[in-house]
Amino acid sequence: MTSVNPQHCLSVALKLVKEAGELVRDAIKKKKNVETKSSVVDLVTESDKAVEKLLITGLSGVFPDHKFIGEESVAAGEKCVLTDEPTWIIDPIDGTMNFVHSFPYTCISVALWVNKDAEVGIVYNPVLEQMFTAVKGQGAFLNDEKISASGQTDLGQALVFSEMGTSRDPEKVDTVLTNLTTLITKVHGCRTMGSAALHMAHVAWGVADANYTLGIHCWDIAAGYLLVKEAGGVVVDTAGGPFDLMRRRVLCASTQELAEKIAKLLKQYQPERDGVSE
Ligand code: IPD
Ligand code: CA
Repeated sequence: MTSVNPQHCLSVALKLVKEAGELVRDAIKKKKNVETKSSVVDLVTESDKAVEKLLITGLSGVFPDHKFIGEESVAAGEKCVLTDEPTWIIDPIDGTMNFVHSFPYTCISVALWVNKDAEVGIVYNPVLEQMFTAVKGQGAFLNDEKISASGQTDLGQALVFSEMGTSRDPEKVDTVLTNLTTLITKVHGCRTMGSAALHMAHVAWGVADANYTLGIHCWDIAAGYLLVKEAGGVVVDTAGGPFDLMRRRVLCASTQELAEKIAKLLKQYQPERDGVSE
């Protein structure tokens, strides 16, 4: 079995993520060159590409044998393959739409998965200077202070995050709206903030009680997955079964009980899987 030194991996990645954060903090104030990808609202800027390059160049310099799945590399034609080998899964800017609008709710998401399990997770909002980190078995942290999921079990008291997504497929849009219609009268509040990675970090932090998204990509949720688990929360498929990183569906919650209550209410949608699992 391949093994890594997770603490060493965390500290190497943290240094690079902070450097990338300076780039994002500076660029968010300026005019951006915006291109579109899978839909007119699936955006990419020169900063997304620059951050991904900085991270992959830096990490591969220290870990030459490690593999990478990066959102912009995949968009440029690289294969999205998760094997048992140590694999860094990177979203250089999660919440690019927010970044483009200078809305300060955007982040860098970096995870290290080994043997198809998460070992390290980092979600960094450089604008608000919130650094969420987790190493498997060692808890989750916000700016070095331990964080915990809320422990909420009562649906009527739950603050539930979800994302609209960037797909304009009518079936997907209908599913998103149907789920909001169902939940809005049953939960304490619904929120959608524009970054799936930060949503999950907020569940880990205990300031949101659950988050679900259909049609998400592995790079949006690979780090958030570990943050939530290490904070004592649960991460499952939107239908309530086991979580599958490449299935493009995620439901996380402060407790199993709350996750089950939400899963039972959600209309499901299955987009094409991410990449290939070996
Ligand atoms: C997006 C964000 C957003 C979600 C979209 C993602 P990006 O990621 O995570 O919350 O609704 O589906 O594409 O494109 O900003 O990295
Ligand atoms: Ca992105």
